[in-house]
Amino acid sequence: MQDAAVDVSVYLLADVPTAPSLAVLTPGELRRAEALSTEDNRLGFRAAHTLLRLAVADRVGVPPTQLTIDFACARCSEQHGPPRILAGPGAGMGLSLTRSSGLIAVALLAPEAAGREVRVGIDIDRVDAVGFGGFDEVALSPAESAALAPGDLPARATLWARKEAVAKALGSGLRRDPRQIEVLSADGCGRGEAVVGGRRVAWCDVPLGRAGFAAAAAVCGSAAGTGIRVTLSDAATLF
Ligand SMILES: CC(C)(COP(=O)(O)OP(=O)(O)OC[C@H]1O[C@@H](n2cnc3c(N)ncnc32)[C@H](O)[C@@H]1OP(=O)(O)O)[C@@H](O)C(=O)NCCC(=O)NCCS
Repeated sequence: MQDAAVDVSVYLLADVPTAPSLAVLTPGELRRAEALSTEDNRLGFRAAHTLLRLAVADRVGVPPTQLTIDFACARCSEQHGPPRILAGPGAGMGLSLTRSSGLIAVALLAPEAAGREVRVGIDIDRVDAVGFGGFDEVALSPAESAALAPGDLPARATLWARKEAVAKALGSGLRRDPRQIEVLSADGCGRGEAVVGGRRVAWCDVPLGRAGFAAAAAVCGSAAGTGIRVTLSDAATLF
């Protein structure tokens, strides 16, 4: 790992609070939460968006109520896209969030990395979510599919988390065909670089220490070629 590696802070929340403080969420976020179909999803959404603000506030050193986070979708402008801070405290900081079956993670780029025009992506996936027929055909490149043993779900979930983290760092999400995002780790070291549509994206696995889940982080931008250094912390202390 080179010294110039991009620092990514990952805050992991393993126990979703049943009544997180909602004071920091916008009316639009509360409406998005209410529209979700299950109480678990509603709680998870509120907790994830609250954590996003608590993590940025902790990093920047301002109260979370002073942050304005924009979620404009690049495709339709609705507030369901990637989080960004356009102005005020934390402006330009790289942000990403993910939720999966009770686990929530937020990734932030260190302030000095944000100035290097890099974007971040974080993703957590359940291993059993990739166990459906036809996964390889829709998700993997031919080389990736050939490299994995048939039925090896943990390996497939690992690749899927890397692909989604890369897709988030690109900002396209899964509008980009995941088969075009190649994330095999040649030497099994759990980190690498994808070149997608001419853009370089560095990725690395994030060891959560939770059985049944895979997670990865990615950075895209001018400094992506220098690799990623992830610091994982317990987000429970922020609530
Ligand atoms: C982003 C995406 C890969 C995440 O899928 P997922 O694994 O089901 O969900 P996760 O919990 O890991 O991540 C969801 C978060 O990704 C972020 N996100 C959404 N779109 C994003 C994008 N294009 N790039 C980066 N991050 C994005 C949001 O913060 C979202 O959280 P929220 O819904 O609570 O606001 C997938 O939902 C996707 O590709 N969405 C975009 C599709 C799109 O652009 N459709 C056009 C709509 S008009």
